[in-house]
Amino acid sequence: MGILDVKNLKFKYKDIELFNNVEFHLEAKEHIVIVGENGTGKSTFMKLISKNLIPDAGTITWLNHIKYAYLDQHLEMNNDLSINDYLTATFKNLYDKEKELIKLYEDLGTASATDYDKITKKIDIVNRYLEDNNFYAISSTISNVINGLGLNNLNLDRLISSLSGGEKMKVYLAKIILEEPNVLLMDEPTNFLDANQVDWLAKYLKGFNGEFIIISHDESFIANIANVIYELNNKTFVRYKMGYEAYLKEREIRRESYLKAYNAEQKKIKEMETFIAKNIVRATTTKRAQSRRKMLEKMEKLPKPKNRVPLKLNFPFSHSTGDEVLILNELIIGYDKAILGPLNYKLMKEKKIAILGRNGVGKSTLLKTILSQIKPLSGDFKWNLSADINYFRQEENEFDEINAINYLRYFYHLKTDEELRTILARVGIGKDLCLKPIKELSGGERTRVRLALMTMKKSNILILDEPTNHLDPMTKLELFDALKSFPGTVILVSHEKDFYDELVDDEIYFD
Ligand SMILES: Nc1ncnc2c1ncn2[C@@H]1O[C@H](COP(=O)(O)OP(=O)(O)OP(=O)(O)O)[C@@H](O)[C@H]1O
Ligand SMILES: [Mg+2]
Repeated sequence: MGILDVKNLKFKYKDIELFNNVEFHLEAKEHIVIVGENGTGKSTFMKLISKNLIPDAGTITWLNHIKYAYLDQHLEMNNDLSINDYLTATFKNLYDKEKELIKLYEDLGTASATDYDKITKKIDIVNRYLEDNNFYAISSTISNVINGLGLNNLNLDRLISSLSGGEKMKVYLAKIILEEPNVLLMDEPTNFLDANQVDWLAKYLKGFNGEFIIISHDESFIANIANVIYELNNKTFVRYKMGYEAYLKEREIRRESYLKAYNAEQKKIKEMETFIAKNIVRATTTKRAQSRRKMLEKMEKLPKPKNRVPLKLNFPFSHSTGDEVLILNELIIGYDKAILGPLNYKLMKEKKIAILGRNGVGKSTLLKTILSQIKPLSGDFKWNLSADINYFRQEENEFDEINAINYLRYFYHLKTDEELRTILARVGIGKDLCLKPIKELSGGERTRVRLALMTMKKSNILILDEPTNHLDPMTKLELFDALKSFPGTVILVSHEKDFYDELVDDEIYFD
C-alpha cells in the first residue's frame, strides 16, 4: 500500500455532493499539488484526509506510524497562545514527562526503604528518555528554527493573534519543522506570503525529504514544487504523474481526445435516431428499428463535457478625474511609530500601479492611510476632487454569519433580492451559494462575493489589496481582463508577479 490510500470516498454537505467514489493515492517521494476550480471541494478533501471531517462512505488509510501536519486555508491557529507557548506545545509529551519526574523526586522524599529503589529506577528511566529526546535543548532547538526562518526579530511573548498573515505562516512552519512530520498537508500556503517568502517556501518544499499534498492556485509556485498533479473536477480526481507544465499540455491532449470521442459518439447517436425515426413505422423495418432503439438505450454514453461559465466581472466607470489623481507630500505613515516615509509621489490619471514589498513593510498601512482609515503621522496626501474610490476589502470575518445576499444588502440596502442574486450570479455565486452563511463558502467563493460588491459601485479609482488570493487561474484571468479594461486609475497590492506584470504601468517597491 501507499503512504495514503483513499478509496470509494463519498461526501456531501447537506444536499451538495462533493465527492462520488473518489480515489487518491500518495506514494513515497511524491510531492503532490491539488488543483481545481474554486468550490470544487479541495479544502474539504484536505479536511477529510486530515481527519477534521468524517466521510459519508469509503476509506482513508494512512500507513502506520506516519505523522502528518495540516495547515488550514484560513490559517486557523490557536490565537490566544504566545509564539513561545505555541511552539513549545510541540513538546508537550516531554513536558509531561518532566512533570512526572518532578513528582517522582517528591515521592522519593517520603518513600519507604523498599519503594526507594523502585522510584530511583523510574527516575533513571524518565531521565534517560528526556535526554534521548533532547529535552534539555528544547529552547536552543526552537531558537535555531526561529533564526533559520528569519523570525528572530519577533518577540516570542507576542500573541499569535497579533501577527500578520506572513508572520503567522512562518510561526506555523516553525512548528512543522519542530514536529518533524513525514507528510505535510497545506491548503494554499502562499496566500499570506510575500514574493521572497514564496521563494523561500518553494525551496524548503523542494528539499523536503518527506511527502506533501498541497493545494494551490499559484501557477509558478506549483510549477516549482510538484512532481504529481491531482486535478479535481466533476466530483473526482484525475492523477497526472508529472510536473505542472507537462500536466497543462497533457490535460489539453486528453481534453481534445475526449471531445473527439464525444463528438464521434454524438454523431453515431444522431444516425441511429434518424434510422429509428425513419424505420419504426414501416412494417418491414420496424423490428430492426426496435432493436436499434434498444441498443441505443443500453449504450453507455460519454457525459457531455462541461464548459465553465465565464464570470461577468466589470467595474463600472464613473467619469474622468483631473490629471493629478493622488499627491503624497512628505507623508510618514505608521501606528505609534513610523513604518514608512517620508513619501513623495504623484499618481497621474488612468495610471495603473503595483505596490510591492515584503510582508510587514507597510503596504496595507499605506492603503489604509490614503483611504483615511488611519491618520498619517506627519505630512499629508491629497486626492483629486473628482476622485471616486472603489476599494477591494481585505479578508474579513465580521460578516461570517450572514449570507452573500445580506452581505451586499448591508452596503446597498435598497436593492431587491432579485437584483442582488443577479449580481452574485455574474461572479459564479449561484442560487444555492448565495443563501449560505459566508463562513461556509470556499475561499475563492468568498473572494468572489467581495468582488461582486465592487461591481456595484461606479468609480474612477480602484484600490485592491491582494485580490488574487484564493482565486483559481481562470478567475484570475477574468479579474486581470476586468482591471485591464478599466478606464480609470488602479492601485494594486499583489505578490503575484504573473498577475501584475502585464497589468501595471509602474511598480513601486518598498524595502
Ligand atoms: N461547512 C460547510 N457547509 C456547507 N457547505 C460547505 C462548507 N464548506 C464548504 N462548503 C461548500 O462546498 C463546496 C466546496 O468547498 P471547498 O472549500 O472544499 O472548495 P475548494 O475547492 O477548496 O475551493 P477554493 O479553491 O475556492 O478554496 C463549496 O461550494 C462550498 O460552498
Ligand atoms: Mg479551498
